[in-house]
Amino acid sequence: MTPATAHAIVSRQQSAPPAAAPALIDAGQDFEIRALNAPLGAEVLGLDLSRPLSDSDFARIHRAHLDYHVVVFRDQQISPSQQIDFSRRIGPLQIHVLHQFQLRGHPEVLVVSNVVENGKPIGLGDAGHFWHSDLSYKEKPSLGSLLHARELPAEGGDTLFANMHLAWDTLPAELQRAVDGLYAEHTYLARYAELQQRSPWRPNLRPEQIAQVQPVLQPVVRTHPETGRKALFVSEHFTTRIAGLPEDESRGLLDRLFAHSVRPEHVYRHQWQSHDLVFWDNRSLLHLAAGCPGHLRRVMYRTTIEGDVPR
Ligand code: SIN
Repeated sequence: MTPATAHAIVSRQQSAPPAAAPALIDAGQDFEIRALNAPLGAEVLGLDLSRPLSDSDFARIHRAHLDYHVVVFRDQQISPSQQIDFSRRIGPLQIHVLHQFQLRGHPEVLVVSNVVENGKPIGLGDAGHFWHSDLSYKEKPSLGSLLHARELPAEGGDTLFANMHLAWDTLPAELQRAVDGLYAEHTYLARYAELQQRSPWRPNLRPEQIAQVQPVLQPVVRTHPETGRKALFVSEHFTTRIAGLPEDESRGLLDRLFAHSVRPEHVYRHQWQSHDLVFWDNRSLLHLAAGCPGHLRRVMYRTTIEGDVPR
């Protein structure tokens, strides 16, 4: 064989298609999405988030999240890095202002826990003590949050979710007219001192932390950026006043909105199962941690995804 012939053969081999068929790029997992018997929520059975998720599986999850607002992934034996990777696929992550409670080596994970070790809390033990939407006090509040059950108490520890689309749809027409188009102030510090009085989980904030949580104005009624549905967007934790109204009128309206939002017919109570990963939509919901007896350990890891500016 001359060098020229040999070169021709090599060139043909290089340009020929690979002998083996390429691996299936979008091989999905066999899983089920089942609506819960509640005003919101669905559970996902048979999906393993420690394995790579195909684009079509991810699209199914995304759709379920928009339709049901809470997606409960059962039995997820995932590491913090796997939780972070899945969360990042949804959007950029937000770092909580209480950096004391970041998971060591993983600042994207907020530890939510009542456990105290060597006299020091390992996590934020009173997260969710009042109804709220995560990070509504930021200019860009959270799109959604993912909470992974690492250690559950034998009793209590439930999380409640209220459907704020239903809350808007069922609001009396005169109240709808009164609040649509108004803005309200949200601030992280609204009830901070009150929480500090009763718990060891609220350290004094340093000036640079306070600078990160300056009050913002948010629409009282927001439109979901992906579904176009309207939702009430005020909470007893972070909303302090309706802009432009006298204090008593603002207080009266907010109290009525808070009470209406969390009526039992709008609420799903999540009773945690081992290794649940719950992904909720902060643009559609408020949530509340029901708490558990202090002597029982509860350890959860939360990642929080940035959303857009509410409109
Ligand atoms: C939270 O508000 O993010 C915590 C909810 C919970 O611990 O159940």
